[in-house]
Amino acid sequence: MQRLIQIIYISRSTFISSGLVRGIEPNVARILAKSRINNRRDGLVGVLYFGDGCFFQCLQGEEVAVDALYARLESDNRHKDLKLLSRKQISALSFADWSMKYVPIEKDMTRLLVKGGFQKFDPYLFDDAMIQDVMSLLQSSADPEADGIVEDMIKQSIAPSPAKNLKPQWGLVAAIAVVVIIGIVVFILKK
Ligand SMILES: Cc1cc2nc3c(=O)[nH]c(=O)nc-3n(C[C@H](O)[C@H](O)[C@H](O)COP(=O)(O)O)c2cc1C
Repeated sequence: MQRLIQIIYISRSTFISSGLVRGIEPNVARILAKSRINNRRDGLVGVLYFGDGCFFQCLQGEEVAVDALYARLESDNRHKDLKLLSRKQISALSFADWSMKYVPIEKDMTRLLVKGGFQKFDPYLFDDAMIQDVMSLLQSSADPEADGIVEDMIKQSIAPSPAKNLKPQWGLVAAIAVVVIIGIVVFILKK
């Protein structure tokens, strides 16, 4: 088995938030839906937090897969200013049940920020102790509602598009053909 590693990085979103839909920012929901599909394929797990325009993401998995994803992340223009906060070898996956867990803004995070003397979620200012506290919080909390929304989006993106499901409407085609033929016959007879 390959070396397992964990990375934590932060970044700033580049999209203009259009507000929350069913408790989650739509751009973030799309990122999560894609992440869950890909991460299941690549054996990656982790957690994503989005607050005050900043992402905080922890990724765990085989070194090659984590590095390949980080390279894709670096060229993703939905965020910028990527900063790797930590990279270390691990013996087991601590987010084993989550291809990509999502933790929305919630009271516990606000409490943690206030305790650390922060007005908002600005991970670029966090020290090691604060990063550890954020990680512990992300590890312990869960949000079934946000999760349901992301899973719905995954199902929609996996399902074939309606256009592919269209069967030819043979009855309609036959009716149009009959009308056209009658029209031609009438036209010829009138001449
Ligand atoms: C903040 C953020 C987090 C992301 N997390 C993941 C992730 O965990 N897994 C993933 O495959 N893609 C993630 N992406 C998307 C990747 O940057 C990239 O668009 C995607 O992996 C490309 O997948 P594709 O080659 O299947 O189109 C993330 C993007 C952003 C902006």
